[in-house]
Amino acid sequence: MLSHRIQKILPSATLAINARAIELKKQGVDILKFGTGEPDFDTPDNIKNAAKRALDEGFTKYTATTGMPELKEAVCQKFRRDNQIECDISNVMISNGGKQALYNCFMAILNPGDEVIIPSPYWVSYSDMVAVCDGICRFVDTTGNNFKLTAEMVKKAITPKTKALILNSPSNPTGAVIEKKEIQKIGELALKHNFYVISDEVYECFLYDGKEMFSIGSISELKDLVFTVNAVSKTYAMTGWRIGYIAGPKDVIKAMGNLQGHSTSNPCSIAQKAALEALNGPQNSVTMMAEEFRKRRDYVYTEMNKIPGFKLQKPEGAFYAFPDVTNCYKSDITDSFKFAEFLMEKARVAVVPGGAFGKEGDRFIRFSYASSMKDIELGIERIKGALQ
Ligand SMILES: Cc1ncc(COP(=O)(O)O)c(C=O)c1O
Repeated sequence: MLSHRIQKILPSATLAINARAIELKKQGVDILKFGTGEPDFDTPDNIKNAAKRALDEGFTKYTATTGMPELKEAVCQKFRRDNQIECDISNVMISNGGKQALYNCFMAILNPGDEVIIPSPYWVSYSDMVAVCDGICRFVDTTGNNFKLTAEMVKKAITPKTKALILNSPSNPTGAVIEKKEIQKIGELALKHNFYVISDEVYECFLYDGKEMFSIGSISELKDLVFTVNAVSKTYAMTGWRIGYIAGPKDVIKAMGNLQGHSTSNPCSIAQKAALEALNGPQNSVTMMAEEFRKRRDYVYTEMNKIPGFKLQKPEGAFYAFPDVTNCYKSDITDSFKFAEFLMEKARVAVVPGGAFGKEGDRFIRFSYASSMKDIELGIERIKGALQ
């Protein structure tokens, strides 16, 4: 007796791969995990200490539903300082991870049949979130342009029913970064055709080769149309703490707050104190992590391209490699799911099949290099061995 709505969604493929890897590990199989999207670093001490203080001071009760005002103020300062986005606390809310911010947003803006343009390959949850909110996904294939979305691609996907476009730069799963001039042109399209842009910037701190972040929310003409989503999860190695945040038009943010008030209420009070320290405290841990990911990216880029059948574009951001592996497909290995299964069984390496990120992704696998250098070296060796 399940609702039609809930039957539209599937379990998250990335979580499923991780669960399978954990199961095999429990059985004593020595699996190397490159499936999950989280930094392998510990949360920095200054942030952990802020949480300990919150506990000691008894900061353990409900806070304002959409987050404590000091944290919202810190988010506004962060947006102004790092992203040139003008906002005040009425434009901002705090949620349980970036995921809930996105989900609340889709719930607040989508009517049945509204279309959302999603550049593909895309992060697994976008399509399911849109589907559960009765929206229709319009996928735009970016594989032919090194995964880089252009305004021309967006233009072709616009219809009278277009309600929103998702931008995710740097991208999960591809590591691609959208060019600033394209973002500006996309902004012009949003104004002309009056649709929302939801810019998911959770990987903004992991950019390489001198690439700079450009937030579409900084274009002042678009202030009534852009939502900027971020989280402390990836930037500060805080995936388990569940704090995300969003800035956008006041009326929608208010409606999202109403929804959160009737679903989860405020995110964890202690985690909010930790997030406040993350945003306001020293940022050297972020620089250190970004530098470490860059080194690993360089290694993975060079070594993966030596694996027979692998073709990897250089990722410009985030911490994922997304090689084309179609040259490894043969006889019974005919798609990315079967290839990922083969790697799990024969190389004892867990990766995510690219097909989990949309049908356009099926030529690829996603390998997260947010793992130790030692594991990465060993993982690549094992893949080479299994393919021989
Ligand atoms: C592109 C993207 N957006 C949002 C999220 C959600 O992050 P959080 O853990 O803060 O909910 C993730 C997490 O994997 C992600 O990869």
